[in-house]
Amino acid sequence: MLKINSSHCQKVQMPFLTQSNIELDIKRDDLIHPVVSGNKWRKLKYLLLDAQEKCCKNLVSMGGNWSNHLHALAFAGKELGFKTTAFVRAHENQRLTPTLEDCRSWGMDLIFTSRVDYAQLRQSFQWNYFSEQFPNSYWISEGGFSELAIMGIEEIGRELDRHYDHIFLGTGSGATLVGVAKACPQSKVTGVAAFSGADYLPGQLEPYLKPQSNWHIDTEHHCGGFAKSNSELESLIDEFHQLNQIELDAVYNGKCLLAIKDAVEHGKVKQGDKVLMIHTGGLQGMR
Ligand SMILES: Cc1ncc(COP(=O)(O)O)c(C=O)c1O
Repeated sequence: MLKINSSHCQKVQMPFLTQSNIELDIKRDDLIHPVVSGNKWRKLKYLLLDAQEKCCKNLVSMGGNWSNHLHALAFAGKELGFKTTAFVRAHENQRLTPTLEDCRSWGMDLIFTSRVDYAQLRQSFQWNYFSEQFPNSYWISEGGFSELAIMGIEEIGRELDRHYDHIFLGTGSGATLVGVAKACPQSKVTGVAAFSGADYLPGQLEPYLKPQSNWHIDTEHHCGGFAKSNSELESLIDEFHQLNQIELDAVYNGKCLLAIKDAVEHGKVKQGDKVLMIHTGGLQGMR
């Protein structure tokens, strides 16, 4: 296995916190590994062990041009002696992003896939169809969403040594939210959707969390859509960096902080509440 560090919770400062007498800690999962950082390792850990136990040789998954998931998978696969293959939502003639350049340099086979094929591949039955072309392979769905990924995420919750009234984290597939909400049933857990139109997500996640109701998806801080940004988000990230020397990516973690600020300013987080934000990594995508 890779050498993974444990992560600590660090108290951070921002004027909007001081004004409301609210304590915010940030769990530094961005520091657990130089490449396979944040929620990436948490989600992959048990999937990789499962693939090893099943003696699969090839890890196959899917993702976009800037996918943190593919980036982590390519590196972890190389380190652990797996072949890796990815269906990528991109055109083969376009210039590779630094993310995909890394993936290829770590030995990942990139299969460029049209938007239509990519959308179909999201349906698991479609992989059953493709799987014959990839013998001895282990399929990992987009973003790693699976029971095993959720199990790995639950370990984040078990590492906390105090109670938090609120926990916030960036959300894509929702696996991280599900794992944290399961592991911290006494906290209110908010997943901040990084993309627009996430209203379908609660219905999709509910079966994994029933009967718990300590969770919620914030659909209002995507800043225009996935990987979209605006000046408010950028200045918040800059200010946070200046005051705390912690980098946040604009795709997930910056939006998460924006949602916390808004929740504080609108009284959804109350004076004296203890709040945790989980830094889910993703800094490679800023290149
Ligand atoms: C840095 C980062 N944070 C958060 C997420 C969202 O995680 P999830 O798909 O488990 O909701 C992702 C995507 O996997 C990510 O790359």
